[in-house]
Amino acid sequence: MGTGTLMRPLNCEVVETVRHTPHISTLFLEPTPEGIPHPGQFVMVWVRGTDEVPMAVSHFEQGRLGITVQQVGTATRALCDMHRGDGLGIRGYYGNGFTLAKRNALLIAGGLGIAPLAYLYTRLVENGCNPTVCVGARRREELILLEELDGCEPVVATDDGSCGISGTVVDALRNVELEQFERIYCCGPEGMMAKVHSLCKRAGVLSRVEFSLHRYFKCGIGVCGACCIDPLGLRVCKEGPVFSGEVLDGPEFGHYKRDGAGRKVVV
Ligand SMILES: Cc1cc2nc3c(=O)[nH]c(=O)nc-3n(C[C@H](O)[C@H](O)[C@H](O)COP(=O)(O)OP(=O)(O)OC[C@H]3O[C@@H](n4cnc5c(N)ncnc54)[C@H](O)[C@@H]3O)c2cc1C
Ligand code: FES
Repeated sequence: MGTGTLMRPLNCEVVETVRHTPHISTLFLEPTPEGIPHPGQFVMVWVRGTDEVPMAVSHFEQGRLGITVQQVGTATRALCDMHRGDGLGIRGYYGNGFTLAKRNALLIAGGLGIAPLAYLYTRLVENGCNPTVCVGARRREELILLEELDGCEPVVATDDGSCGISGTVVDALRNVELEQFERIYCCGPEGMMAKVHSLCKRAGVLSRVEFSLHRYFKCGIGVCGACCIDPLGLRVCKEGPVFSGEVLDGPEFGHYKRDGAGRKVVV
């Protein structure tokens, strides 16, 4: 596929919407960009007249693509307000994605971090892998996409104790033997991922854990440099968004990130 095709958004239609909470919805889109997305890859979603924003692939089947959106600002509000028949533009699939485990794996999701991990779960099971899932949310209503985890009873934690363990998903990991897993995958708020990184470092499994980073993107294709992380200058949109624990063992991850103007802001 040439760069011209990658740069041009594909016109897509919203064919179905699922509202999980007042601020989180899944949109199913057709048609889809060429090829099959690798779990962890993302699309750039052009909301006409508003903005273009990165979104992880949360579902993919039979030429239908799903994105799960949490309303945090202008573009995500416009997406959550969309209805069947509305149109938007899609570029992708971009980024590297997760390394697929063959035997067993641990998936650790915090909040909306379940979006790319739900699609990863499906692909791991298709590969004959037996994943264990730990998932955390602020409250019971925000535990979304658990119905996608066919055949799995996830370990659940909620901040307010309304479901599962009372605490964060990191608290739910305290009794889990991280060494037993071939691969560990993590996605969620960066502060939470940094704590998982520390647990993995202590357990000596940094080379087996992969994190999906959500940073501020402009171009999404490695050209503008808006998403570079210290100290190596890796572009989250191109060399990421998935990075191994070893690569993230530096000064930036879990400490600061860059906003739209390139200024450092505390994570
Ligand atoms: C690879 C990748 C995959 C993503 N996947 C998903 C997903 O599956 N579902 C989902 O809901 N969101 C996802 N995001 C985050 C999403 O892109 C942002 O929430 C969105 O760009 C915000 O746009 P806005 O116009 O609604 O908010 P704005 O009005 O631009 O900003 C509102 C607030 O959101 C913060 N914000 C802006 N961009 C980001 C960002 N990239 N990450 C975190 N906070 C941000 C701003 O600092 C501000 O506080 C992903 C981001 C990346 C980089
Ligand atoms: S967003 Fe432009 S280089 Fe990553």
